[in-house]
Amino acid sequence: MTASVPIARRSNTLSSSLGLGEKLFASSDERKLANAIDSGLALVEAGLLEQMSFTDDLADVTSRYLLDAGGKRIRPVLTLLSAQLGSGNNSNVITAAEAIEMTHLASLYHDDVMDEAQMRRGVPSAQTVWGNSVAILTGDLLFARASKLVAGMGERALLLQAETFERLCLGQLHETIGPRPGEDPIDHYLQVLSDKTGSLIATAAQIGLLCSDAPEEYIDPVVQFGEKIGVAFQLVDDVIDLSPAPDATGKTPGTDLRAGVATLPLLYLRRLAATDDSAAELLRRIDHDINTAFYEAGEADSAELTAAIAELREHEVTAMTLAEAHRWSADAVAALAPLPDGSVKKALTRFAESIVERSN
Ligand code: IPE
Ligand code: IPE
Ligand code: MG
Ligand code: MG
Repeated sequence: MTASVPIARRSNTLSSSLGLGEKLFASSDERKLANAIDSGLALVEAGLLEQMSFTDDLADVTSRYLLDAGGKRIRPVLTLLSAQLGSGNNSNVITAAEAIEMTHLASLYHDDVMDEAQMRRGVPSAQTVWGNSVAILTGDLLFARASKLVAGMGERALLLQAETFERLCLGQLHETIGPRPGEDPIDHYLQVLSDKTGSLIATAAQIGLLCSDAPEEYIDPVVQFGEKIGVAFQLVDDVIDLSPAPDATGKTPGTDLRAGVATLPLLYLRRLAATDDSAAELLRRIDHDINTAFYEAGEADSAELTAAIAELREHEVTAMTLAEAHRWSADAVAALAPLPDGSVKKALTRFAESIVERSN
């Protein structure tokens, strides 16, 4: 955050973060709020770059790799937005936003190993460049550095960060293991989303309140909001996984499907397949094509798998997933009711709407 730090190599403004600039702030009054977020984001970006110096050439390169590759920075935006409900930007708010983005970044390094993802943020995933061990250790380094940042902010923030990290890991673990016998797969799945994604997004919002001394009674509504938009965000991610446009998403289409990661469209399809022959037939083809792709690792996807992914994308189960995402987003907005009316509440509302309209 010092003046000597080179300014971020990528421009990060609200408009580069989900195109939120125009959507969140329409009036001139709201522009003032937008400026606070933009100036905060510039500091966060410079701070992140400064933090990724491990006095180790290899670690600096591997940790900056995905940072430089892009990303929407929605979590730091949330931290900065919620801080405007308190005293606004200060050095702890900026540091907290850095720690949150760093925790997210770390989780991406690990996630791509687990999901065997080929691409992330439009570039080859870290483990395809350096192998699994380097990717995992880079993620660990970033988690450690994020904890160091939060350690200076007092016990409450540190405990929050530790609890969030715990939920994130449990979410990933439960996703990996799948539902227990007798557990409803869709309930299990929604709990996974709350834990692996909702937890960090809720904490991003909460820590902005804590660091800006916002009124205590704002915490519960803001946490509820974060948890719910987190689930909405991840549900849209399930649909994005089926997108045919890797350039827009920065990811390879069908990554979750191929890695055997359950997504809501697939879970809905499985449920429907019990009573609907054409759903059962599509499911059989997807399972067969994925198995074939698995045994022919390294081969490009078969035309059959590409066609099956396209069919799933057009199927009613994908529209049902989007409808579910919209319900979570609407519930998130409803949770904001106790907050005072004003530009921040309005911006959070538009934020929730943008989350479900996104395509990357
Ligand atoms: C990707 O998060 C992982 C999920 C929780 C879906 P983002 O979509 O926020 O990723 P970046 O930061 O923009 O790359
Ligand atoms: C992202 O989950 C990782 C975490 C939330 C920890 P996914 O595996 O569903 O997201 P993408 O599609 O790879 O970004
Ligand atoms: Mg994953
Ligand atoms: Mg993944």
